[in-house]
Amino acid sequence: MIAEIRVRRLVCLTGFMGSGKSTVARLLARQVGWQHVDLDQRIIEHTGQSIPNIFAKLGEPEFRRIEHEQLARILGESAEQQKSRIVSLGGGTTAQQQNVALLRRTDIALIWLHCPVADLLKRAARITDRPLFRDEASFRKLYDERLPSYELADFKVEANTEPLRVVEQILGLGIFPKVTA
Ligand code: S3P
Repeated sequence: MIAEIRVRRLVCLTGFMGSGKSTVARLLARQVGWQHVDLDQRIIEHTGQSIPNIFAKLGEPEFRRIEHEQLARILGESAEQQKSRIVSLGGGTTAQQQNVALLRRTDIALIWLHCPVADLLKRAARITDRPLFRDEASFRKLYDERLPSYELADFKVEANTEPLRVVEQILGLGIFPKVTA
């Protein structure tokens, strides 16, 4: 996964459920002074429903449709307003080809928060609001299915550590503009 070093306006975090995308994005945004946008949160605000409710009442295909629509909106807003943003994606966002197509813009850096499945399973014990987390076997199967989609990312950082250490790794990638005095 070799990526050309260039300045990006949008930094998107991908990775499996429990890899810490939202927490890391929030901390990173604070450090670099960019706005943080969380895709799941946008979906909740747009629909007025929780993610489990959307899955239960409308089904996963409708969730994916809304997810795609909201991702397109976030990326469009950032381009229109010429504002830099850190975007935390959902765990399944980059598994959808139509989203990958949107994320292939030269001003977007896609970063994979990689975490071994054993660590994710430990964290998953605290997960109560993820409709796609049912049991260990299905969790491992989904993880394996999703790996190729995460490997499409421009950068990979190790996320089985403290969120601040993950932020340090991202800051070390050289994708943020240097602040000159
Ligand atoms: C999903 C992950 C969730 C959320 C939805 C579907 C997935 O986001 O978008 O439950 O397909 O893996 P997190 O990765 O933030 O848990």
